[in-house]
Amino acid sequence: MPFSKKLKQLLFSRTKKTNWDGLIEEYKTWLPVTSKTPIITLKEGATPLIKVQSISNRIGKGVQVYVKYDGLNPTGSFKDRGMTMAISKAKENGCEAVICASTGNTSASAAAYASKGDMRSFVIIPDGYVAQGKLAQALVYGAEVIAIKGNFDKALDIVRELSSKYPITLVNSVNPYRLQGQKTAAFEIIENLGNAPDWLCIPMGNAGNISAYWMGFQEFFQAKKATQLPRMMGFQASGSAPLVEGKSISNPETIATAIRIGNPVNKEKALLARKTSNGKFSSVTDSEIIEAYKILGKEEGIFCEPASAASVAGLLRLKNEVPKNSTIVCVLTGNGLKDPDCAIKNNDSVFHTGVNADINSITKIIGF
Ligand code: F0G
Repeated sequence: MPFSKKLKQLLFSRTKKTNWDGLIEEYKTWLPVTSKTPIITLKEGATPLIKVQSISNRIGKGVQVYVKYDGLNPTGSFKDRGMTMAISKAKENGCEAVICASTGNTSASAAAYASKGDMRSFVIIPDGYVAQGKLAQALVYGAEVIAIKGNFDKALDIVRELSSKYPITLVNSVNPYRLQGQKTAAFEIIENLGNAPDWLCIPMGNAGNISAYWMGFQEFFQAKKATQLPRMMGFQASGSAPLVEGKSISNPETIATAIRIGNPVNKEKALLARKTSNGKFSSVTDSEIIEAYKILGKEEGIFCEPASAASVAGLLRLKNEVPKNSTIVCVLTGNGLKDPDCAIKNNDSVFHTGVNADINSITKIIGF
């Protein structure tokens, strides 16, 4: 090859991409975006799938359990997958402000992506029932936070009405772009495992995420990227389990405030996912949630929030139904740092306070 051609090639060839550019860039052909869509991204997605031997051991039977640690997204929850899509499409449509109701994570994510996309954000939250970390995020990302004397369900009714009357885009999971973005987590799992798992265990609140995962698994299955579909195993906290009980709950209660929801908007989609996947919905108590939360922290070094631990608690509850040699993925939807109060109250560690700052006192405590 002549030197000039070689030089040209060297100068104009694209450098090899080694960076992850976010899930829209990665899965463009599977998403409702065009070359005109401005991509608003914080490089969400590509979260790790981690083998959790301590959970596999508790189940036995040659079962392999993994967690999809979506708490490692930019704002610490799976909401970022949906928010990059919802905010990018809102931007494409010329929107200047977004609104959501939230138990905390949606508000943090909406606020972050709205700021990145140069839009205003308004978030309506149940006063006193949002974990500190999530509230801190929404404030720091620049949202206008409105805490109401009412629960999430009430907040959602209000934002739905507001967004139908005024020029403000709703970014809760009734916005179809949210589920489109969230389905990419199923794609990543299939790519990591080489196939879909036998069971997908997932916490349910508004039931958007389970519906999104099911969509993702089906799309990759139809495209022959997987040879099987998982059973969709959805879990709710027992004080807040409308999908398990088959009726709305007017005063939902649980330590897992993220899923403290009595009337899930994506109910029909979730019920269809259960039916078509031959899945199952069950509830877990707050103490089962905390037990799973502690095991993940203490035995796996994985810190998730209580709502996320419901997926592992649910799997442990259904232990006897797990097929031999199966592969199971539990979705850890949010990062444990979101809810420091819960962490400080619920652990088995020893915390010595007010210790004298001398080597002897400390040596004694350590036990030398
Ligand atoms: N896990 C976490 C950590 C959540 O924040 C949520 C929902 C869920 C699970 C349930 O997901 O609603 O799609 O079934 N949080 C919403 C919020 C309601 O406002 O942040 P879902």
